[in-house]
Parts: sequence; C-alpha cells; structure tokens
Amino acid sequence: LTSPTGCPVSANAAAFDPFTGPYQEDPPGSLRWSRDEEPVFYSPELGYWVITRYEDVKAVFRDNETFSPANVLEKITPFGDEANAVLAKYDYAMGRTLVNEDEPAHMPRRRALMEPFTPPALAHHEPMVRRLVREHVDRFIDRGKAELVDEMLYEIPLTVALHFLGVPEEDMDTLRKYSVAHTLNTWGRPAPEEQVAVAENVGKFWQYAGKVLDKMREDPSQPGWMQYGIRLQPEMPDIITDSYLHSMMMAGIVAAHETTALAATNAIKLLLENRTLWEEICADPSLIANAVEECLRHSGSIIAWRRVATKDTKIGDIEIPEGGKLLIVNTSANHDERFFDEPDELDIRRENASDHLSFGYGSHQCMGKNLARMEIQIFLEELTTRIPHLELVPDQEFTYLPNTSFRGPERLWVQWDPAKNPERTNP
Ligand code: HEM
Repeated sequence: LTSPTGCPVSANAAAFDPFTGPYQEDPPGSLRWSRDEEPVFYSPELGYWVITRYEDVKAVFRDNETFSPANVLEKITPFGDEANAVLAKYDYAMGRTLVNEDEPAHMPRRRALMEPFTPPALAHHEPMVRRLVREHVDRFIDRGKAELVDEMLYEIPLTVALHFLGVPEEDMDTLRKYSVAHTLNTWGRPAPEEQVAVAENVGKFWQYAGKVLDKMREDPSQPGWMQYGIRLQPEMPDIITDSYLHSMMMAGIVAAHETTALAATNAIKLLLENRTLWEEICADPSLIANAVEECLRHSGSIIAWRRVATKDTKIGDIEIPEGGKLLIVNTSANHDERFFDEPDELDIRRENASDHLSFGYGSHQCMGKNLARMEIQIFLEELTTRIPHLELVPDQEFTYLPNTSFRGPERLWVQWDPAKNPERTNP
C-alpha cells in the first residue's frame, strides 16, 4: 500500500479505521502510536491524511488558505446511487455556511453575524437556561435514578439552540431523528442498506429547514440569530445569500445543539468518574469554570474536523498534495503530552486547559463557544448544588454513534438517595 505521494503506508496507518474498534472506544488513546511515531499519516481506509499532534493540528486550523474548510460538511462516506437519488428527490443542497466557507467570503459574513454571540447578547439567555435546568431537575430529583441524556441533557441544549436561532420549539423529537441522520450522513459510514433511511431523514431535515426559513421571512422582526441574518440580507445580499440561510438553518441546529448536549454528557460522566474532583467542585463552585474547560479538553464533543489542501504543501516533513483531504484529530491534539502535562489525567486546576482545540482555532473558531460553556457550567452548578451525592449507575455500558467527529455517550444513568437531597434537610 502507498499514499497518493507514493510513500509506503505503515501497518498502523493501514489498520486505522475511525468507524469501529479502538478509535470508537478511546479516540485519543487509539492514536498514541501516531503522536509518537507518525504524526501525519495517510489512511487508505478513509482516503484522508490524519493529523494528530497539537502543534500540527493548530497550524492546520491557523492556515485556512492552504487548508480550506470547504470539505467540512461533505459526506465522509460517499453514498450509493439509490441514497443519492433520495437526496436529489428532496432537492438536498447543503452549501456554504460559515464553518465550510472560504475567504474572502467567510470573514465579512462572520463579522456581520457576530453580534448575537457577544457576551451582553448571550447574557439574555442565561436566566432561561437556569430555569430550564431547574425545571428538569425538579422532575427527577425525588426519584433517585435518572437517564440524564433523555431526561435533560438532550432537550435543554436543543431548546436553547432553537431559542437562540429563533426557531419555534416544536417537533423536538423529529429534530432529534434528523440530527442523528445528519451526523451519520456527514461523518458516519452507514451500511449501503442504511443509507437510504439516512438520506430520507436528511432530505426531510433540508425541507423542514426551508419551511422554517420561509415562515421566518414572513415576520423577520422576531428575535433570533436566523432572523438577524434575514434582516441583514437586503443590505448585503452577496454576503447573506439564500443558500447561506437555508444551509445554516439546517447546519445551525446541529452546531448549536448536538455539540453542546454531547459535551455536557461527557463532562458529567467524566467528573463522576473522578469522584474526588466532583466533590471538590461541590465544595467550591468557583472551580466549575475551569473544570468545564478541562472537560472540554479531555473529552470534547467534536473530536476530529476536516480540511482540504489548496496547494502542494508539507506538514512536518510529510508532503501533502493539492486536493489532499485532512482529518485533523483535535482530541488527539488535546491529549498530546508535548503540549499538556499528563494529558490523560483530568485536572480541573490545569492552567492551560483553555488552550484545548475542541472549539477549533483561528478564523473559524466556534462562534457559539461561550453559549456552550454557559450551558455546561449551569448544568454542573445545579447538579452539584442540588444532588451532590449523585453517582454513576455502576457497570453501565456506554455506547456511541459510530462516526469520526461527534462524540458523547448515548445514555448516562445516574443514581442517588433522595432522602439525602440537601434541599430536604436544608429547605
Ligand atoms: C464552528 C465546536 C457549540 C456555532 C465550530 C468548530 C468547532 C466547533 C470544532 C469549527 C472550528 C474551526 O474550524 O476552527 C463546537 C463545540 C461546541 C459548539 C465542541 C459545544 C461544546 C456551538 C454552539 C453554537 C455554535 C452552541 C451556536 C449557538 C458555531 C458556528 C461555527 C462553529 C456558527 C462556525 C464559525 C466559523 O466558521 O466562522 N464549532 N461548537 N457552536 N460553531 Fe461551534
């Protein structure tokens, strides 16, 4: 086996398969060999160059002209004719949003749409997030056992995402189905017989996004980031295009919601697995902000992202040809001991925790990072105050949707003794 530049492919590189096995079980651990021996390698299975060290991943994020984000929302697994026909039937045409837009179009659009993400604008959402978390905890606090994903961690980020975007909060279950299909369509490897069902839901998601957009256009005075874009469109039609609005309507729901739900699930699981740290944040909530950052570093919800080389170039001493596709594994970067001391340890006082690459880096860095941080922080504040004796149900198996990029357990069972709830003893 050789790479597109004619170099031999090592046995480890040939064995790399991000859809099953070690990468699904422990993504950063499964790539330790690469960080140590072959930090840039070609994966014949994937047809991508895989980048695993911190400095390289950051350098690729930083140079968005050599390494274009144009392929970020492309299907990582090409579909067969039947599934493609289904997508065509729904006029599916996911185009450029922000995350996959090149310069010079990207920056003016990003700047034009930034205001709703500024701290004062985000502050308006905080009371709603707090109220939602309290209400959800109220529903299960006297029960002693809960599955946190279904009962809270999925629905709240979805509600907040829809509220932020300005989308009416209906059809939540349908959106959940659509979001899973979007993840599999973009970052998964569905078997040929599954592809048609995935394509059906992706096509319906696209149609749904179009309908919501048409409805918003009837009254764009309502609050919401999408309405904000619609209102700007007449002033800057070349920057806020129809294709942008339709694509963002669909991609934005997933960007704002799935990412945050998975990150919150990872964080709670991780802290409960490191009981002493959980107890420390219960005793001193001022530790929560950095704990959130450390959980995002250790187990972020976006574990790998993509770029495509726009010219012949090199990463380290490995030549990447023009058109070469890159899988940049940010979770591997976050566990690179060349940058983070004892990277596999969870250290809520880690001084450089916020240098993690879970939100990307550079001109495309996540615009919603502060909204996500706020949500995870509030989940932790409320749970550590109201159910500090919370623990994981022992011996549960954690399952993950097989894909390269979005990661978090599908279920998280927790238990506690309601008789010991502080608010009973201490009303
Ligand atoms: C971009 C991760 C939450 C909106 C990104 C990127 C990543 C990411 C990796 C690409 C960065 C790059 O190419 O350098 C995450 C994670 C989240 C999260 C891990 C939760 C923990 C959110 C939320 C929103 C959002 C809540 C919206 C409310 C965006 C947008 C971009 C983006 C608009 C595109 C920015 C650009 O290309 O200029 N995010 N995200 N994200 N994210 Fe997030």
